[in-house]
Amino acid sequence: MTPPLISPSILSADFARLGEEVRAIDEAGADWIHVDVMDGHFVPNLTIGPMVVKALRPHSNKPFDVHLMISPVDAYLEAFAEAGADILTVHPEAGPHVHRTVQAIKGLGKKAGISLNPATPAKMLDYLIDEIDLVLVMSVNPGFGGQSFIASQLKKIEAVRKMIDKSGRDIRLEVDGGVTPETARQSVEAGADVLVAGSASFTGGPARYAANIAALKGTTPEEGQ
Ligand code: DX5
Ligand code: ZN
Repeated sequence: MTPPLISPSILSADFARLGEEVRAIDEAGADWIHVDVMDGHFVPNLTIGPMVVKALRPHSNKPFDVHLMISPVDAYLEAFAEAGADILTVHPEAGPHVHRTVQAIKGLGKKAGISLNPATPAKMLDYLIDEIDLVLVMSVNPGFGGQSFIASQLKKIEAVRKMIDKSGRDIRLEVDGGVTPETARQSVEAGADVLVAGSASFTGGPARYAANIAALKGTTPEEGQ
C-alpha cells in the first residue's frame, strides 16, 4: 500500500519556538504543514491568524495546509492566501454559501478543501466534488488536539473514497484528529491518502519527529524520508 502523506498539525508544536518547530518537522519528513486556525466562535478555541502563517512561511517549502475553523470565513480567505497558504480548507457549516467560498478560494489561485465534521454526511459533497481538490474527514470534533479517534468516521472515509474515485478527479482524502499509527493504518485501509497528526507527530520532542512520522506512514525512518 502506498504510504500516506503526513501533515503534522503545528497545534501540538511548541508555540514559543514555532519557526524552529516547522523547520524540524519538515526535515523529519513531513509532507505538508497543517495549520489549525480557530476563532473561539465556530470552535471553542482560539489559535492563530494570517500573520503567524506569514511569519512561518520562510521556514518550510512544503505545502501549507491551512484548516480554517472560523465563521464567517470568506472575509479571511485573501489574507491567508497572501500569507502563503497553499490549500485552504473550510467547513460547510461556516457560511451560508459554501460553493461560493470554494469559488473564491479557486479565484485566489489556491487549492480548495472541504472539511466534514463527525456528524456531517458525505452527501454534503454531492454538488462540490467537481470543484474541490481535497476532502478533510474530521475524526474528532474540531477545536482541540489530543482527542480520541471516532471510529464511525472510517465508514465515511470509505464513502468519500468511492465518491472521489467515481469523480475521476485528482482529489486528496485527508483525515484529521486522533491519528496514531493504529488509526493511521485503519484510515489508509479505508481510503485516506493524507493524514493530519498533531500529538502523534510532535510527541517526544525533535529527536523523535522522524521516527514519529515514519511510524504514521508505516515505514522505517530511512524509508520515510
Ligand atoms: C482539531 C484539529 C486537528 C488537531 C489534531 O480541531 O483540526 O488538526 O490539531 O490533533 P491530534 O492529532 O492531536 O488529534
Ligand atoms: Zn486540523
